[in-house]
Amino acid sequence: MKKALLLVVVLVVNMAPGFAVADDKKIIAINTGNTSLVLMANNQGKVFHKYFGASLDKPEEILNCLPYDPRRYETFEACSTFGNENKHEVALKVRHADGNMTTDLRYQSHRQTRIDGNVTETRILLKDDHYPFLVTLIYRAHRDEDIITSRISIENKEDGTIVLEKFASADLVLSSGEYWLSHFYGSWSGEMQMEEERIGKGIRIIDSKKGIRTTQSENSAFLLSMDQPSREEQGEVIGGALAWSGNYQLCFEIDSRNTLHLTAGMNPFGSDYHVDPGETFDTPPFIFSYSDRGKGQISRNFHRWARKYSLRDGDKPRPVVLNSWEGAYFTFDEDTITKMITDAASMGVEMFVLDDGWFANKYPRNNDKAGLGDWQVNKKKLPHGIDYLIDHAEKEGIKFGIWVEPEMVNPKSELAENHPEWIVQSAHRKPILMRNQLLLDLSNPAVCEFVFEVVDDLLTKHPRIAYIKWDANRHVQNFGSTYLPADRQSHLWIDYTRGLYSVYERLMDRHPDVIFQVCSSGGGRVDFGSLAYHHEFWASDNTDAFTRIFMQWNTTHIYPPMAMGAHVSASPNHQTGNSSPLKTRFDVAMSGRLGVELQPSHMTDEELDFAKKAIAEYKRIRDVVQLGDLYRLISPYKENRAALMYVTEKKDRAVVFAYTTQYHIRQDYPTVKLRGLSPEKTYLVEEINTRSTSKVFNGSGKTFSGNYLMNHGMQLKIRKSNETACLELTEKR
Ligand code: DGJ
Repeated sequence: MKKALLLVVVLVVNMAPGFAVADDKKIIAINTGNTSLVLMANNQGKVFHKYFGASLDKPEEILNCLPYDPRRYETFEACSTFGNENKHEVALKVRHADGNMTTDLRYQSHRQTRIDGNVTETRILLKDDHYPFLVTLIYRAHRDEDIITSRISIENKEDGTIVLEKFASADLVLSSGEYWLSHFYGSWSGEMQMEEERIGKGIRIIDSKKGIRTTQSENSAFLLSMDQPSREEQGEVIGGALAWSGNYQLCFEIDSRNTLHLTAGMNPFGSDYHVDPGETFDTPPFIFSYSDRGKGQISRNFHRWARKYSLRDGDKPRPVVLNSWEGAYFTFDEDTITKMITDAASMGVEMFVLDDGWFANKYPRNNDKAGLGDWQVNKKKLPHGIDYLIDHAEKEGIKFGIWVEPEMVNPKSELAENHPEWIVQSAHRKPILMRNQLLLDLSNPAVCEFVFEVVDDLLTKHPRIAYIKWDANRHVQNFGSTYLPADRQSHLWIDYTRGLYSVYERLMDRHPDVIFQVCSSGGGRVDFGSLAYHHEFWASDNTDAFTRIFMQWNTTHIYPPMAMGAHVSASPNHQTGNSSPLKTRFDVAMSGRLGVELQPSHMTDEELDFAKKAIAEYKRIRDVVQLGDLYRLISPYKENRAALMYVTEKKDRAVVFAYTTQYHIRQDYPTVKLRGLSPEKTYLVEEINTRSTSKVFNGSGKTFSGNYLMNHGMQLKIRKSNETACLELTEKR
């Protein structure tokens, strides 16, 4: 199938620009290896969405069904606009310079360009039938990953300012009997809870109106399964994710004919945006993928795409980190930290990260009530400064990283005293504190400069800092900016995120070798917008192994496991109070980007030995976990256990993780059937991370064919709650 599709790509590219057919209708096919998105411009120049799904070898066959009854079929424009025949939610709503609220877009031209051997970009230029108002639809098709991105660029050539009232990045139409939506909701310490629901007629909106920390309560990504609840490896599923860290809106509208119309983009909520003559307005990309092989394939598509096109340095395995937060919180001094560094190094950790509490002198940062904004080393806690700690880390053979939260300020800080006007605030209203802090106004370039300088100074003065953990612990309230003019206050939502991205961009350019972690009260900024500037994300402040089995399971539906910070912390767990063995905690954390989040001096010698061995084993398998393909084998939502595995692209190595979540009452050990292996290859299976000689798999140390492992499967003797296993597979030639 793939070969035939490749041919289609070439043909379409060769026919561009402006491939015209009978009746002057144009078919514009946007193809990946296994999927097609087909648009059609009719002879009045209206561009319609015609198809999205498995590859169409001859998309122009759509024209054989013409003439359509326009009342029935041609109502879904590729960029639907307000004020004409559209009677559903629209992608674009504009108030033109003369006050006219309607827009009528017509095809001008299109162009398909190969960006590289894998990516083809399609640009479709549309113009309003009356106004010099231009919209370019921009799609990028990623052949090997079966990913398409969609965004629009709006250009105002009118003689006055226009106001954008809605500006979605994507406008898609789907046709199915049933639609099952999986979305990811949550809260602090409980991010990325997955829920699947059948959506019926009417409108279902998933959105954020928090401005920042927008993915804490609902993530901007989803899965949509056709006809039936989603299955791992079967069935038609579409995945979508918006690459934007500000307010977003995903709107699923099912009409009386059962057609689903999706608009996805920045949230128009309180966000009217003025575009002056000659200016353009660009929307962020919406990333989507179709699979007829279940949601597992969608996840693999997203992960592969993210590693190659989104995440920073997506081809480089991540270091094992020890983050000081849960081990020390705000209570530490130089001795605490140097001792932690020494202990971390002796465990095999590669990067020590000093979390919150290291800064501010007039109002020392000894808790979350003061000091935020004053980014000078606290002389009492760390009298010899940061370089002393870095020297110590380097002496111990590891790297050093540090925590910042530069977008925020405690009222009790020198920054708030000196620059009250930099704070997001509503005139005549009392400030609303959250975690005792307020938000800086990143719509103001002077504030962006300050935020940039905070981090740039830190990295310039201490060029051996190798890692930045960037936190953000509140969202927007007290809406208002002292910088934006009265008639442009509504720009704050969008300009804040744009300001933040401009800071990230400058920092990336200036410090390309520094690893950046995005954290926002845990998983509040896990989206492909922020990930483009980061190497990894802190999935949640909830580090409890049991909770993490579910949370990480859900997160990997969209986001790449190599970027998912997963740390082993103390037992009982500080958030949930659950206790779990160290092995369980390691087995769960090792299925993502492994780290440690505890005070090593509180561990027994036996625990330290175990940790040392587990970290060494993780280093051996980490390229499989971080760069391999994920197969979710047994869902913790269906059984009292879970299993997942990673396989290298060459299928020569694999790692299996298996967990129990509850005691199996009167059950034998059910088999785990593996996936993604080569049936012909022979694999040596070895249990790793063992406490003693205990073996959960009788065949550990023996060889098996991929065929056996995938069809017969392995019986794993794990049964009690908290029992887990980790198995390594290596091809034996
Ligand atoms: C919230 C983060 O999620 C934690 O990991 C930690 O960095 C604290 N903030 C520090 O204040």
